[in-house]
Amino acid sequence: MIHARIAGTGSYLPGAPVTNDDLVARGIETSDEWIATRTGIRARHFAADGENASDLAEVASRRAIEAAGVDANDIDLIIVATSTPDYIFPSTAALLQSRLGIRNDGAAFDVQAVCSGFAYALSVAEKFIRSGSHRRALVVGAEVFSRILDWNDRGTCVLFGDGAGAIVLEASDQPGVLATALHADGSHHPILCVPGTVSSGKVLGDPFLRMDGQAVFKFAVRVLGDVAAEVLNAANLSIDQVDWLIPHQANIRIIQSTAKRVGLPLEKVIATVGAHGNTSAASIPLALDVAIRDGRIVRGQTLVLEGVGGGFTWGAALIAY
Ligand code: UT7
Repeated sequence: MIHARIAGTGSYLPGAPVTNDDLVARGIETSDEWIATRTGIRARHFAADGENASDLAEVASRRAIEAAGVDANDIDLIIVATSTPDYIFPSTAALLQSRLGIRNDGAAFDVQAVCSGFAYALSVAEKFIRSGSHRRALVVGAEVFSRILDWNDRGTCVLFGDGAGAIVLEASDQPGVLATALHADGSHHPILCVPGTVSSGKVLGDPFLRMDGQAVFKFAVRVLGDVAAEVLNAANLSIDQVDWLIPHQANIRIIQSTAKRVGLPLEKVIATVGAHGNTSAASIPLALDVAIRDGRIVRGQTLVLEGVGGGFTWGAALIAY
C-alpha cells in the first residue's frame, strides 16, 4: 500500500515584525491592548511592495526541499493554496515551478479555499500520491493578505499578515497521512469574503476583505471541533493518542475554545498567531514548520492539522509524522 508522508517542511515570513503599536503609529485607531486581548495577536509581517505570493512561496519551498533532502526536479506535483495569487492566471503553482527550475512536465495548480486552503491542498496531494499517479508533491500555502485589507476597517486590518509555508509530501511504505476530511457550506459566503473582481479593465465590486467577526468566530469553533473528531474516528484513534493539534491561526480565543472542544490541553496545541497574525492558507504550514524546527514536533508523533475559512470551508488531516 502506498502512503503519503511528510519528508520536509519550510516557511518564510517577509520583512521585520510589525507590532500592534506600529499599527497605531501608522494611524490605525486601535491599541495593543484591544488587539492582544481579543485575538492574542502581537505582531505580523507584511510583504514589501512588489513582493508577491510566489516570492514568499519560493523561499518556503526551497527550505522544505532542503529539509526533505530531495532534488527539486523529483517533484512531480505542485499545489499552492492561496487566495492572493500573483495573477488571475497563470497559477502561482506554475510560476513557482518555473522559479524552482523544475523542468519535468509535472502537474502544477492552485487551490482556493481561503484559510482552509492548506488542508484542502494537502488532502488533494495525498490522494494523488496514494493513487500512484504522482510520487512527490510540494504543497504550499502562500498569502499576501496585506493587499486585500481595508486600512480604514480596524475590525479586520489588524488581524492579518503575510507569509508562506511548504511541505514535501512523498510516497512511502510507512504510514503518513492517516485520514483527511474536507467540507464546505457555500450558503455562509457573505460572512467572510472579498466581494469584487477585475472586469473589462476595472475593479468590479469591492476589492477588500469583509467579515462578520462574531459569526465567523462561532462557526469556526464548532466546525474545528467536529472535523478533528471526524478524522480521529476515521482512523480509529482517540484524542489521547494525539501529540499536537496545529489549528488555523486566526485568533487565540478560537484556538483555546477548539482545544477545549476536542479535549486537548493547551500544552499540546501549536499557536503562532501571536507572532504571525492570521496568514490564511499559510498559517498551518507556518506553524508546523516553526514547531518542527524548534524541536517540539518530532518523528513518530501524531498530529492533527485543521483549517477553517471563507466559503465557508473547513478541513483536517490526521498525520503520523
Ligand atoms: O480565518 C478566519 C478569520 N476570522 C477571524 O478570526 C475572526 C473571528 N472573530 C474575531 O476574532 C472577533 O470577532 C474580532 C476580534 C474580529 C472582533 O472582536 P469582537 O469582540 O467580536 O468585537 P466587535 O466586532 O463586536 O467590536 C467591539 C468593539 C466595537 O466598538 P463599540 O461599537 O463597542 O464601541 C468596535 O468598533 O470594538 C471596536 N473595535 C476595535 N477597537 C479597537 C473593532 N476593531 C477594533 C480595533 N481596535 N482594531
